[in-house]
Amino acid sequence: MRRAVYPGSFDPLTNGHIDIIARAARLVDELLVAVVRNPNKTPLFTLAEREAMLRESLAPFENVRVLSFEGLLVEFVRSQEANIIVRGLRAVSDFEIEFQMALLNRKLAPAVDTIFLMTDAQHAFLCSSSVREIASLGGEVGDLVPANIERALRAKFATKAK
Ligand code: PNS
Repeated sequence: MRRAVYPGSFDPLTNGHIDIIARAARLVDELLVAVVRNPNKTPLFTLAEREAMLRESLAPFENVRVLSFEGLLVEFVRSQEANIIVRGLRAVSDFEIEFQMALLNRKLAPAVDTIFLMTDAQHAFLCSSSVREIASLGGEVGDLVPANIERALRAKFATKAK
């Protein structure tokens, strides 16, 4: 059983994440998409909201499960009896931080490997923070995120504006 973990903040999930998830799901038996609870960050969407949104968007993928975690990623990976971490790479600018994280994670858990998948070129410019900013300013994000996430962004910013 080849089980991998794709961790992230997913605040919110974008089409770029989905592209990586689709690629990773083809390579492994089971892919666990793991939403981080990061006590040092205040996300736009709560952990429960992000988990629910991911479950809805990722329902078509039969071998993908959505979970959340807190604390060290490698401990979560071990607890799930997985030995692969999946991360997406868009441009060279992603590499430095990802390289550092992968080597630190290897130091902490030598039996866990990180594999990097390249997003499709059409998603190379896409990141959650830009999606949040565009949506907060009333811009169109329909081409950047799944439909349920677009609706959730609209609802979130409509409430915030009140
Ligand atoms: O989507 P993001 O914000 O780029 O994901 C970052 C994530 C969740 C992969 C990273 O912050 C993480 O692994 N957090 C868990 C804490 C941890 O294990 N830190 C040590 C990694 S070097």
